[in-house]
Amino acid sequence: MQDVSASALIPLMRIGDELGLFNVLGRKGPCTESEFSNYAKIDQRYAREWLLAMCAAGYVSHTDRVSKFYLTEEQKSVFAFEESSAFMLGAYDILSGNIHNIDNVREAFKTGKGVNYSDSHPCIFSGTARFFRPSYSANLLEKWIPAIPSVEKKLQDGCNFADIGCGFGVSSLMIANAFQNSKIYGFDIHRPSIENANKEAKQIKINNAIFKVADAENYDGEFDIITFFDCLHDMGDPLGASKYAFNHLKNDGTLILIEPSAADDPEENFNTIGQMYYAFSTMGCVPTSKSQKKGLALGAQAGPTKLFKILENAGFKTTKIVKKNATNMVIMAEK
Ligand SMILES: C[S@@+](CC[C@H](N)C(=O)[O-])C[C@H]1O[C@@H](n2cnc3c(N)ncnc32)[C@H](O)[C@@H]1O
Repeated sequence: MQDVSASALIPLMRIGDELGLFNVLGRKGPCTESEFSNYAKIDQRYAREWLLAMCAAGYVSHTDRVSKFYLTEEQKSVFAFEESSAFMLGAYDILSGNIHNIDNVREAFKTGKGVNYSDSHPCIFSGTARFFRPSYSANLLEKWIPAIPSVEKKLQDGCNFADIGCGFGVSSLMIANAFQNSKIYGFDIHRPSIENANKEAKQIKINNAIFKVADAENYDGEFDIITFFDCLHDMGDPLGASKYAFNHLKNDGTLILIEPSAADDPEENFNTIGQMYYAFSTMGCVPTSKSQKKGLALGAQAGPTKLFKILENAGFKTTKIVKKNATNMVIMAEK
C-alpha cells in the first residue's frame, strides 16, 4: 500500500511542478488555502485537495488544525528550489514520461525490438537533465574530478575534453564553467537535447563549450579526457563506443565512466535504488539500446565486472572504481 500511495502522487507532483505550486508555497508560506490559491492563481477547491494530499505524504507541513500550510527548509530544498542539490522533482518528469511511453515499450516487449530514445515523451529529456543535475552539482566538481588528480590538473591547465551522450549538457557545462582554460565538446545523437545544451550555454554565457549532434562512434577530434555520464549502458554497442573513445584519446588520456551504482549479482541490487534503476532501465535504457546497432542492452544495473570487461576489450589497460555513492559509481580507464 505504501508503494501504491507513493505512485498515486505522480500526477499531483507533475501538476505541482508545472504550476509552480511548491515554489509558491516555499516562498509565500505559511498561508491559508485561500491565500495559497490566490498566490498560485489556481482554484481553491483543487488547491485544498492537493495541499491535503501533500500533507498526508509529509511533503507539505501545516499549523494547528490544518489552518495554514508551509514548507520546512528541508521540504523547500527537495521540492521548491530547482537549484538545490537535494531537488527531486526531476524524477517525476521521468516517472510521467515512462507512463506516456507504456504503449511503445509494451509492443517492444512482444517484438523484442527497441524504441528510439527520440520517440520518448519530451518529459524524459528534460527529466533526465533535472534528475541528474542535483547529483552532479553535489559531486562532480567537489568529489568526482578531485578523485582523479591528473584529470583535475589537465582541466586546470587547459585541455580538450569530450562528453559523449551529453544530453542537455549538464555535466559539460559544469566542467566548462569551472575550468575555463579547457575546451569542452558535448556530443549526443539526440538533436533537441543538443539544441537545448547550446541554448543553455549561450544563456549562461559559457564560451568554452560546444555541443554537436554526433553518435558515440562518429565524432571528430583527439581528447585528453573523454566522459560518458549515465549513458554507456544506453548505447546499442558500448564496446564499439569504448573502442572509438580509446582511438580518440591521447596516449596519456583518461576515460571516465559514470554509471549507476550496482553490484554484479542482481540479488544485491534488490533494494530501493535497485528497484528504481531496474524500472527506469526496463522503460528507457533497454529499449534505447535495443533500437541501435548490436542492441547489447547492458541495462542500468550492469555492475562493475561487465563494465570493466567492455573497457578492457576496448584496449584500456588500467580500469578502476575511483568513487562510489548510493546512486553512482565513477570508473576511470587509461591506455
Ligand atoms: C540517460 S541520458 C544521459 C544524458 C546526460 N549524459 C546526462 O547525464 O544528463 C542518455 C543519453 O545518451 C544518448 N545516447 C544514446 N545512445 C547514444 C549513441 N549511440 N551516441 C551518442 N549518444 C547516445 C541519448 O541521446 C541521451 O541523451
